[in-house]
Amino acid sequence: MHQDSRARPLLRPPRVPLVAVLLACIAACDAQPSTGPAPRGAATLLSPVLEPGAPLPGLTLEQRALFERGRGLFQTEFTPETGLGPLFNNNACSQCHEDPVVGGVGEEVERHATAFRAPACDDLAAHGGPVIQDSVTPALHAALGIDREPVPAAATDTAVRTTASLLGFGLLDAVPDAEILALADPVDRNGDGISGRPNRTADGRVGRFGRKAQVATLREFTAGAFVNELGITSPAEPQEQTIDGAPLPAGVDPTPDPELTQDAVDATTAFIRLLAPPAPPPRTFVEERGRVTFVLIGCAGCHVPALVTGFNRVPALNLKIVQGYTDLLLHDMGPGLADICLGQARRAEFRTEPLMGLRFKTAFLHDGRAPTIAAAIRLHAGEAARARNRFLALSWFERSALVRFLQGL
Ligand code: HEC
Ligand code: HEC
Repeated sequence: MHQDSRARPLLRPPRVPLVAVLLACIAACDAQPSTGPAPRGAATLLSPVLEPGAPLPGLTLEQRALFERGRGLFQTEFTPETGLGPLFNNNACSQCHEDPVVGGVGEEVERHATAFRAPACDDLAAHGGPVIQDSVTPALHAALGIDREPVPAAATDTAVRTTASLLGFGLLDAVPDAEILALADPVDRNGDGISGRPNRTADGRVGRFGRKAQVATLREFTAGAFVNELGITSPAEPQEQTIDGAPLPAGVDPTPDPELTQDAVDATTAFIRLLAPPAPPPRTFVEERGRVTFVLIGCAGCHVPALVTGFNRVPALNLKIVQGYTDLLLHDMGPGLADICLGQARRAEFRTEPLMGLRFKTAFLHDGRAPTIAAAIRLHAGEAARARNRFLALSWFERSALVRFLQGL
């Protein structure tokens, strides 16, 4: 086995806790109350939830009721009468996020497009946004004779995205920015060939959601998903999607905006926020061996096994260890995987994909091009080239043990 003394340790040493602000709530505000990393000594492991799709353990009755209400909204099939479209990708969140449970992965893939004009990335907001909708309502079809949104001529690049799993993502939402920033190493000071950096929103916040970590909070992603995926407007996202920025023809969108209340968007967010991560099954000797190899060959340099949530008013999210296997940072993965820019992310940069929930996936990497976990690892390049080469140099036994470990996540 190739050992690398520079491989990052499994759990980082405790960092100095900074002042933390205790303002978190589940539905109505963003779960980023802390300004400093959490005091790691106080962090606890979740008691495992065996059923995928179940809520986090330790919810109050009210929180449980909010979770159920949010799950109902996540599964609601919208129609043009209730706000669907006129441009959309599907009629319910759960049509895509559905396997093996509501909130999980899905087979649907979608297309995104942006334009890179040095030095900045244009997310084509003036041309209908980066998400290209593949469906239109009958009214829009009748008015314009189209079946989908055309890719705007202003785009320089397009990308394919598979549907992500959301299990455990509330815990990632609750990780303080400082925890993520402490892992960043933009000029590779420690010389391990890995130089993660955060994506930032237009107003300078640390991004963490989406394959390019372009969105800062679950709450914003959810409101964005309603309008981008379903064509449902809400107070936070009051504008319908357009075709290349042109006003929609009169009469194709009879439902008054906003089509959904903020309260409903918040309940949907709360559902994702309170969704438990998949419980790791007990590890066999071989899988444990694979876990050690994963750390030793440098995979954990990006796929950081555990992060810790900050102080949170929701006890189920407060100071919890989240075994996400991600640093939520962007890494240059080489030209072979490169597609679009987004925010500050360049074409070749992707957020370290959380490996939490890997067991439910059947296609790997951002566009699903890898049919197996081993194929996904072989396609790692750029900053991940060293770890990939060490993987390829492992014995057959060590390689299969590593893959077996990953299949259990
Ligand atoms: C047409 C299929 C589709 C529908 C419908 C859909 N999603 Fe998604 N979802 C995706 C895809 C594809 C991604 C990955 C996007 C990316 O990588 O930028 C995603 C990503 C996400 C993420 C971020 C996950 C991550 O990896 O950071 C969240 C949160 C999310 N969706 C919530 C929702 C909600 C809430 C709804 C309903 C309002 C919804 N989605 C509807 C396909 C869908
Ligand atoms: C430099 C950072 C980095 C290192 C080191 C790294 N990865 Fe990754 N990994 C990523 C990024 C970024 C992605 C997402 C790439 C994409 O979607 O195109 C990813 C994706 C994956 C995926 C696919 C996940 C999915 O849901 O599709 C697997 C599996 C994986 N990595 C395993 C490994 C293993 C095993 C190692 C060690 C041999 C490793 N990675 C080393 C950054 C890294």
